[in-house]
Amino acid sequence: MKKTVVMATLAAIISLGIGTTAVADEPVEVSSLRGHNPIDQDADVPNPKRWQRDRAPIERDYVQQPPLIPHSIEGYNINRKFNKCLTCHSWKNYKSSGATKISQTHFEDRDRNVHANVAARRYFCTQCHVSQVDAEPLVENTFKPVEYIR
Ligand code: HEC
Ligand code: HEC
Repeated sequence: MKKTVVMATLAAIISLGIGTTAVADEPVEVSSLRGHNPIDQDADVPNPKRWQRDRAPIERDYVQQPPLIPHSIEGYNINRKFNKCLTCHSWKNYKSSGATKISQTHFEDRDRNVHANVAARRYFCTQCHVSQVDAEPLVENTFKPVEYIR
């Protein structure tokens, strides 16, 4: 019991000590790729890589993979009132635009209720679907999909 108290006091003294040094140092500048732009404003960050040209759908690597976006999405806005993706991919518009229609899973909420419109958890398409740039992979990857269930 006594030992625990001593240890706790020691730990407190040590952490206090560390705390004081951190305050004395200059604060570390942490900056994301967005820079210091307010969250409600578009960041004017140039993309260092070029988006791939529009092309045919990209083969999936595993079952349930959100398919990669085979076209540029530059300037395609998704916000509370408007979703550019749905102007082509919704069940209403896919025929006239020639796009794949979003699957039925996209209408299901987490309680498995099926809605007439895209479920909130599937509304922000780019949470799961990403377009591609021609870049060397950062790490080697030897993943191979199972042949039969792709
Ligand atoms: C101007 C129309 C248009 C808009 C807007 C659009 N797409 Fe597409 N999208 C297409 C077309 C056309 C295809 C290719 C269909 C084909 O060739 O089979 C496609 C393909 C895709 C695919 C591949 C589907 C598959 O089965 O492999 C995904 C994923 C996708 N788009 C996501 C998006 C997302 C996310 C957005 C919004 C950020 C978006 N698209 C906006 C027209 C559009
Ligand atoms: C939470 C992740 C997630 C979000 C958000 C999401 N998708 Fe998907 N999407 C998937 C997955 C996983 C699949 C493949 C399995 C399936 O069809 O559910 C898929 C499949 C698709 C397909 C191919 C359908 C087919 O029949 O092959 C299209 C097109 C698509 N999504 C477009 C969209 C669009 C447009 C949005 C935004 C309105 C969107 N997705 C939002 C995960 C997501």
